[in-house]
Amino acid sequence: MLENRRILLIVSGGIAAVKAPDLIRRLREHGAKVRCILTKAGEQFVTPMSLAALSGEKVFQDLFSLTDESDMGHINLSREADIILVAPATANMMAKMTHGIADDLATTALLATDKPVMIAPSMNVMMWNHAATQENLKTLQKRGIEIVGPGAGDLACGEVGDGRMAEVADLITALNTFFQTRKQSGPLSGYAALVTSGPTHEPIDPVRYIANRSSGKQGHAIAAALADFGAKVTLVTGPTQEPNPNGVAVVAVETAQQMLEACLAVKPVDIAICAAAVADWRVAQASDGKLKKTNGSTPPALSLAENPDILATLSQAKTDRPKLVIGFAAETENTLENGTAKRTKKGCDWIVANDVSAGFGGDTNTVHLITDQGGDSWPTLSKKAVAERLASQIATHVKQNF
Ligand code: CTP
Repeated sequence: MLENRRILLIVSGGIAAVKAPDLIRRLREHGAKVRCILTKAGEQFVTPMSLAALSGEKVFQDLFSLTDESDMGHINLSREADIILVAPATANMMAKMTHGIADDLATTALLATDKPVMIAPSMNVMMWNHAATQENLKTLQKRGIEIVGPGAGDLACGEVGDGRMAEVADLITALNTFFQTRKQSGPLSGYAALVTSGPTHEPIDPVRYIANRSSGKQGHAIAAALADFGAKVTLVTGPTQEPNPNGVAVVAVETAQQMLEACLAVKPVDIAICAAAVADWRVAQASDGKLKKTNGSTPPALSLAENPDILATLSQAKTDRPKLVIGFAAETENTLENGTAKRTKKGCDWIVANDVSAGFGGDTNTVHLITDQGGDSWPTLSKKAVAERLASQIATHVKQNF
């Protein structure tokens, strides 16, 4: 469940901060990607260097650091994670969270996030039992913050009682349970989705092919995000280097014709998203044997035939049309206008239009979401964040319209 999860770990200033290095190590063993924010008080207990070395990532500390802000703004920092884990969460940190105080990077990220938050309280037993902390705890619970621990036992201050931060193993279990539960009760649970991804390869002969450029990163990320939201997802993908997303049924194909057949075999579905870069043409007569090059002879001319349009086929289906069909528009100019025209031409409900003149295979995407309400321009985001934002818009649409 933690494979490829991005965890923003906020380490605040309690003695249990010394457990942070072990926590990071275990999270990474489970395949998670960990990025840390270390508070000023946290730095009294653990060094940024050790957190950076173990997480393999820069450690963020300063709200007003020009270099950090240009590297990764504090808003993005809080939104590029799948979950924010505050461990340890001191009494002071809990109080600030309760009252929306944002006076450093950690508390600002917590106020700016739209992601789930889990906290592992850690403090002296009297502080934990204090009416103020208990009131804060209730408020945080009411707001949906996940609370893990604290346990009872010997405390660093010499007293005995509740206040020990949950053990690292318990935090890992809590995170696993969280992702498991979210999947089972997600906003798209009970809905079936089809996603196409990657390029198609159209053979010229057994060793050569023509293809579009596509890494498959965006399509695969969308399949993963929909699965995370609880949908039953089938990913029909052309050849890519991308690993299969967890919890997604994957059908691997090569050509556009195979992709179409695989998509039709998956129907009926509630949602279809065509993110594949399907080759518009195939070689009309692919050779069964390898074409040989003989010195001085004219190169063979390729005669092309048009491939089926999978997006248009799904959008214009007379029977079992998915209730929501979303296409992509890869454009090199006039992205918004061309994307809007493509939405009408293909008959799909939404178009995600992106400018591909900057190249292919990168980890970020700048897109416009075009619906019957017009175009909404999103900021440049990681492909994973684009996928999550799209999944969350789909979930809202499904709730209101299905
Ligand atoms: N698409 C498809 N089948 C095709 C061609 C495209 O399903 N044979 C889908 C893509 O998955 C994408 C959308 O159609 O969702 C638009 O793809 P794009 O390559 O931008 O558009 P084209 O239809 O190829 O138009 P053009 O090349 O003229 O821009």
